[in-house]
Parts: sequence; C-alpha cells; structure tokens
Amino acid sequence: MSDKRVLVVGLGEVGRSVLRLLVRHEERLGLDVKGVDKSPEAANDAMHATGVFCTTGLDDAMLGAPDVVSLCVPCGEDFEPLYIVLAVAMHRWRAALFSIESTVPRPGGVPALVEDRDVIMFPHRLSPHDEGHDEADSDVRVMGGVTSRALHRGIRFWGPIVGLDRIIACTWEEAVLCKVMENAARFVEIALVEEIAMAAERHGVEPHRLLDLMRTKWNMGHLPEPLDGIGRHCLPKDVEFAAKLTGDKHNCLFSAAMDTDDAYQTDLDAVIKHFKKFGSSKG
Ligand SMILES: NC(=O)c1ccc[n+]([C@@H]2O[C@H](COP(=O)([O-])OP(=O)(O)OC[C@H]3O[C@@H](n4cnc5c(N)ncnc54)[C@H](O)[C@@H]3O)[C@@H](O)[C@H]2O)c1
Repeated sequence: MSDKRVLVVGLGEVGRSVLRLLVRHEERLGLDVKGVDKSPEAANDAMHATGVFCTTGLDDAMLGAPDVVSLCVPCGEDFEPLYIVLAVAMHRWRAALFSIESTVPRPGGVPALVEDRDVIMFPHRLSPHDEGHDEADSDVRVMGGVTSRALHRGIRFWGPIVGLDRIIACTWEEAVLCKVMENAARFVEIALVEEIAMAAERHGVEPHRLLDLMRTKWNMGHLPEPLDGIGRHCLPKDVEFAAKLTGDKHNCLFSAAMDTDDAYQTDLDAVIKHFKKFGSSKG
C-alpha cells in the first residue's frame, strides 16, 4: 500500500469511527493518521478518545501532505460544508485520494468540481446505537469513483482496512443514490408502521399486537417496530434529498411519509399509551 498518510476531516460520529478503524490498522499497514475538525471540542474529544493527533485547521505545518483525505463533514442540499472543505483540500493536496464518506444529496455537483483528481464516494452505513452496525467496518459498503483510476485507488487503500469483501464497486451515481435511497426506504418503512399504529389505535386495537399478527404472513416479517417517531439527523435529512430526486417534491411517497411521521409524532401521546417499547426509530 503506497497511500500511508491519512487525514480525517470532520470528527463527529462518522469521523471518530473512521479514526478508530484506522488506528486499529495503523501499525500493521504503517499508516500515519491525523484528524481535523473546525470545532476545538470535537478535535480534543477525538484526540483523547483515539490517541490520534487532531487539530482545527487544514494547516500543512501541523498535518504534512496527506496521501488520503477522508471527508466526514456534513453535506446539505447545497453541498455545504462538504464542497468548501473538498475544494480547499483539493487545492492544497493535488495528488491525494479524496474519500467522501458523507451522504451527498444528488449525483451531480461533486464530479463537476473535481476535474482530474482521484475522488471516491464511499458512504457509511454506520448506525451508532445498533450493535453490530456501530463501527466504520461493521457493514458491507458501496464505493464509486469519479474515474476508474480513482475507484481502483480507493479499493487499493480501503481493501486492506475494511476487507475487500466489504467493498461493492459501482459507479459514482449508483453510490450516491444507493446511500440516499436506502435511508429514504427505511424512513418510508417506519412511516408505514406509524400509519398502521395510528389506524390501530383509532379502532381500539393494540398496535404491537396488530403488527405481530401481520408479521405471521410469510412476506411481512421485516416490518419494524413503530417507536416514538423518526429521530436523529440522518433519516429526516436523507428522505428530503430523496423527495427532491424524484422530481415533484410535493407529490411523492417520500413527502407523504414525512407527513405521516409528523402526524404520528403529534399523535404520540394518544398512540404511545398502547406501546410496550419506547425510543427513537432510526436508520
Ligand atoms: N452519524 C451516522 O450514523 C451517519 C451514518 C451514515 C452517514 N452519515 C453521514 O456522514 C456525514 C457526517 O455525519 P456525522 O453524523 O458524523 O456528523 P456530526 O455532526 O456528528 O459530525 C460532523 C463534524 O464535522 C465537523 N465540521 C463541520 N464543518 C466542518 C468544516 N468546515 N471543517 C472541519 N470540520 C467540520 C463538525 O464540527 C462535526 O464535528 C453526514 O453526511 C451524515 O449524513 C452519518
């Protein structure tokens, strides 16, 4: 492996889990890992938790020139702040591999910005509160490259770290849409059981009992539990990305699912009294 010096940018849930993963392989692969966050608290917390040197600016003197930049900063509908961090890093370190691990809203945008650089889309499936899915290498992940050279470099770098069998190579467009749509699908699935729970409650039927009865059918076993609404930041944000991808935001299943979750959360006091389980539904 020739890409050894790795910089992780954005040290929130995803970035910290990437740092932990890299630290586990640091010695075996001869990696030199560093972290950056705009927030001094986040940089300090990550440094204490992992022992990796973390700081608050993309400063060459502190960081050296990385071979790989792992981008774990948030990304909104307008691609910020990811875009600006990527642009600054690409300007500073032309030869690096840029590994975008954030969720981006649509396939266009980033490829137009990157020109001849090696950029891959390697989104996470991390779910910090679900055992077995709570680390950066817990799950199989899709990887797309802006070019096949970028994709091959991405696989060469990440393969020995996450395991080659945990990378599914695909196109850039597939990788972007796969991440957004899997979270949107999860949102719709939860909204469906929330809708069923509200209907059950209105007709005097215990919602969990009804769902358990439904799950006895051969193709209904996957129905999730309706808990106390769709929480945390990823699913609500990503279903909005998905609604825009379908064209007419105001006339699509994703928008209806958002309305259902709003109604369910408003109705929660009435609905929840029948419930045995509590907690936020999440991705
Ligand atoms: N948290 C998850 O379980 C999860 C799972 C899959 C995908 N994702 C995606 O990963 C991305 C990051 O999510 P997260 O949960 O780690 O976010 P987070 O809010 O926990 O952390 C983001 C970090 O980026 C830092 N940051 C913001 N702007 C910055 C900048 N300009 N320069 C440097 N640092 C900056 C913030 O200070 C923060 O510490 C998002 O796109 C999210 O949708 C998250």
